[in-house]
Amino acid sequence: MESADLQQKIVSLCKRRGFVFPGSEIYGGLANTYDFGPLGVLLLRNIIDSWWNFFVTSRQNIYGLDTAILMSPKVWEAAGHTSSFNDVLVDCKECKNRIGADKLIEAFLKKKNKFEKVEGRPVKELEKIIETEKIPCPACGKFNWTKPRKFNLLFETNIGILSTDQSLAYLRGEIAQGMFVNFKNVLDTMRPKLPFGIAQQGKAFRNEITKGNFIFRVLEFSLAEFEYFFDPKKDNSEDLFEYWQGEMKKWIMSLGIPEKKLSWREHTDDERSHYSKRTIDLDYEFGFGKEELFGLAYRTDFDLKNHMEKSKIDLRYTDPGTGEKFIPHVIEPTFGINRVFLTLLTEAYSENNERFILKLHKDIAPYKAAVFPLLRNKPEIVKEAKEVYQMLLGAGISVVWDDRGNIGKRYYAQDEIGTPYCVTIDHDTLEDRTVTLRDRDTTKQERVKIENLLKKL
Ligand code: GAP
Repeated sequence: MESADLQQKIVSLCKRRGFVFPGSEIYGGLANTYDFGPLGVLLLRNIIDSWWNFFVTSRQNIYGLDTAILMSPKVWEAAGHTSSFNDVLVDCKECKNRIGADKLIEAFLKKKNKFEKVEGRPVKELEKIIETEKIPCPACGKFNWTKPRKFNLLFETNIGILSTDQSLAYLRGEIAQGMFVNFKNVLDTMRPKLPFGIAQQGKAFRNEITKGNFIFRVLEFSLAEFEYFFDPKKDNSEDLFEYWQGEMKKWIMSLGIPEKKLSWREHTDDERSHYSKRTIDLDYEFGFGKEELFGLAYRTDFDLKNHMEKSKIDLRYTDPGTGEKFIPHVIEPTFGINRVFLTLLTEAYSENNERFILKLHKDIAPYKAAVFPLLRNKPEIVKEAKEVYQMLLGAGISVVWDDRGNIGKRYYAQDEIGTPYCVTIDHDTLEDRTVTLRDRDTTKQERVKIENLLKKL
């Protein structure tokens, strides 16, 4: 299947089956915003739970937080986001198309088979490439651009009701700062020893102007990340880098993503964020091309040092052995959850003779099983099926009931949303207390005793 087709099919499946809806749709939509529907929210929660279990619950030295979205504006000044968290944009003077200068150049070079990453390069340099390559507007084909200009990605808002006493605040552009400003609180309450991590998951907001590719690039998105603090005199940052690279890959592969679709890409000096000494991205082959899924950055002591300077609060760690006080360094694995969502759908989508099957990993699928009474007008069968349904619900299994249409249609409907198992209750069930268990991927059916069903699932 052509990549563009695949992307389009995923978008339409998401809308049709209640995974993702365009934001504010009844008012004509709001660009680059999306709402997760009843099935989308189940998948999203399963992804987040899996992440939290893998990186937080199962590790003794990673502590969780859930910090406020609104923070003092001083946080963003100290962290360098008010000055350095920018996108460079150009406007077409002919058709008013606004586009990221880096994306414009990269797409143009890719078509000419001389692709290179130019993200993060100085504005002057981007301007020069657009000029020398005479890059036309992809919307109208003309070559008549404004000069490239920097736009800050932080969303501004105001605190206070009366305009006279309103004060400026920002929606958080990354969730990491919540972890840095609570570093001392975690030290004081949990008494952790280096190396240790502070993790959280929540929404981040960025005033992205460029085209989003569905939920890949949006104005607000779910992010999960942790700051892994260490003593640079005792631990080698390169070794830690390698360790976390392995763990990041292990997690996404545990959700069914094959290694061959993943690749690491080192950031160039120009491209790296203002806080990072080294950044490497884990890229995935999306329907629209190979793009960043996760990032791993060596933020050194940049953030804690700046917060300590600006807040005048001592954010140093005291070595329990020597009593030496110092600011730890930090390595940050970061995971865009929206992108994981899209990756899992891209990987799972398959077609077989007009049938759509979402081969989602069984642990992550919105519903683990669907329960059907073979005939909806036979009260004994419906009653028995309801009991099986209640039994699975009671065991904490995410299960759905369906008694519409014929059995074949019900199977297709469940395949399309990735339900791994369908359980059908029929006449034989009333005689021998067995049900038909049908597997999504093999379509094989077997008779299973009701008492063994839970174990089987
Ligand atoms: N604290 C580090 C940080 O925020 P980042 O590379 O700017 O790093 C982290 O963003 C991750 O968030 C990315 O790897 C990507 O998966 C995701 N991401 C970034 N911008 C996004 C957007 N506009 N929409 C959806 N996901 C985004």
